[in-house]
Amino acid sequence: MPMTVYALESSGGLAARLAAGTGDRLVFVEKKEFPDGETYVRIPEKPEGVAVLVGSLYPPQDKRLVELLLATEALSAVSPDRVVLVVPYLAYARQDRRFLEGEPISVKVVLKSLEAAGASGLIVVDVHKPSSLEEYLSIPHRNVVPSREIAEYFSGKLSNPLVLAPDAGALERARAVAEHLGAEYDYIVKERDRVSGEVKVRPRSFDVRGRDVLIVDDIVSTGGTMALAAREALKQGAAGVFAACSHAVMVRGALDLMLSSGIKEVVATDTVPSQVSKITVAPSLVEGLRSLLDEML
Ligand code: R5P
Repeated sequence: MPMTVYALESSGGLAARLAAGTGDRLVFVEKKEFPDGETYVRIPEKPEGVAVLVGSLYPPQDKRLVELLLATEALSAVSPDRVVLVVPYLAYARQDRRFLEGEPISVKVVLKSLEAAGASGLIVVDVHKPSSLEEYLSIPHRNVVPSREIAEYFSGKLSNPLVLAPDAGALERARAVAEHLGAEYDYIVKERDRVSGEVKVRPRSFDVRGRDVLIVDDIVSTGGTMALAAREALKQGAAGVFAACSHAVMVRGALDLMLSSGIKEVVATDTVPSQVSKITVAPSLVEGLRSLLDEML
């Protein structure tokens, strides 16, 4: 089945790698900003076969989300029932429940908006809570998790490695990477005050003495979570600490904060372009896309 891969401004590199992987044509969505700040997009040519639109939602998330919604609607007008969205980094995914009364479930709003705009299928990478997709989407979808890619990057580089999740919720991700690496895994306890945002770390009983620790998380935003986990591991005698994440959102000097906490290397995938985005998710996205299209067509 032929496809046409469309790229939004945020995702030109990854969309090009995806199109190279499927052997399909790559088209850039046109974009302008009106004098009052509103976004204008245009699909410059009709798709051949299925339209695959790639748009990652890293900062500025709100702008990029509007651009993605507009492009989805425009594509669905020329390719009804055949618009697959690839959203490498899904913004707002961490607000997946009402932590405090009166809050929105932001991930629900984003997912339902993408579907309402005309998406007939959706692929995301390492979404914060995978069950959000089941819960809020009625279109076919895939969550591509780059645990094999992360493990391959670190294969042979670590001595007696322990893969560490920065909190219990991230344990499954650490387990998957550890399995590919043939290593042990564990987690530390992190508590974040929902109102003040202050993060406290309590050590859990893991033995890191003399071992290389690889901390694996989905998102690095301020770098605070990784830095705290690294300091804890080093305090407990780890030989070296390395950090890997899927999405290097990295705001406010995050990399400096992590490196100054003693982390030897920070590595991320290319869902968000950055100086540490050294691992591509393109081959896994190609696989996910083929499996999704098998289900849809
Ligand atoms: C939180 O639930 C996420 O999984 C990450 O741990 C978090 O987003 C990291 O944020 P930061 O880099 O600001 O500590």
